[in-house]
Amino acid sequence: MRNPQLNANGELTHLLTLEGLPAEVIRHILDTAVPFTSIAERDVKKVPLLRGRSVFNLFFENSTRTRTTFEIAAKRLSADVINLNIGASSTTKGETLLDTVDNLVAMNADMFVVRHSQSGAPHLIAAHLDRTGRGHVHVVNAGDGRHAHPTQGLLDLFTIRHYKHDVRELTVAIVGDILHSRVARSLIHGLTTLGTPEVRAIGPQTLLPTAMSSLGVRVFHDLRAGLAGCDVVVMLRLQNERMKGALLPSAGEYFKHYGLTPEKLACAKPDAIVMHPGPMNRGVEIDSAVADGAHSVILPQVTFGIAVRMAVMSIVAGN
Ligand code: CP
Repeated sequence: MRNPQLNANGELTHLLTLEGLPAEVIRHILDTAVPFTSIAERDVKKVPLLRGRSVFNLFFENSTRTRTTFEIAAKRLSADVINLNIGASSTTKGETLLDTVDNLVAMNADMFVVRHSQSGAPHLIAAHLDRTGRGHVHVVNAGDGRHAHPTQGLLDLFTIRHYKHDVRELTVAIVGDILHSRVARSLIHGLTTLGTPEVRAIGPQTLLPTAMSSLGVRVFHDLRAGLAGCDVVVMLRLQNERMKGALLPSAGEYFKHYGLTPEKLACAKPDAIVMHPGPMNRGVEIDSAVADGAHSVILPQVTFGIAVRMAVMSIVAGN
């Protein structure tokens, strides 16, 4: 079956998920992002790759990092950027998602960046556009439900490559609420596709999906044992907004067992890096001494997100 993100020539036209995306496409995005990192150092922080194109940010769910870095990335590519204010839009009067999209396409939209609490919403839009002969309008998934967050996965891969170079030589641990995490899912698909030999999932039974080992991931319930020998530690927030019922005794109990402190981090390799997609909950999944410490690359992740999103938008737009 054809990958719905690729056209008949195998070119990326939408970015919906990293699952099933060929390794060469992922590597191409990461390689393309490298020169974009230096644009921030120029007096004029712009290149003309999307000049004359209109990028619509459709964020049906809150965001700080993703929405802002997509806007910066599109502006650095010289696109016109329209941030639809969802709360003040006609979706509040009962207009459907696809009717909203059709109206924005009628305003000559060239690209939609979509975040939605419903898994599959960006796929629905892309399939609708393709089915109705408007496949030249591109869709980039900025996070859908607990399903996928492909540009976060890509910026995480970019960060790992930046600090650790070859992902095929690393042990990477992802810690915490993996069950509800689209970030974890996208990163696992990216790492396994690129050949990372050991990806570990660390967390309580209630916060790990049952199918972890079928994704090629080693499961640990003890944080110290799971961190032993790791090169990269990715911490995750407890995604209370997606939890049905109480899955944990308390935030304090969680921190005791799974909160990353300097003492627990010492179980990883001495030069391990610590990542977090944000937003962080200090004192719940991560101690401030780690979040702000020498191993943390949490803020560089955010900066790399601009270059990676520039690469994604320029590639799907055909540049
Ligand atoms: N990492 C991430 O998706 O953060 P935001 O929710 O702030 O976009």
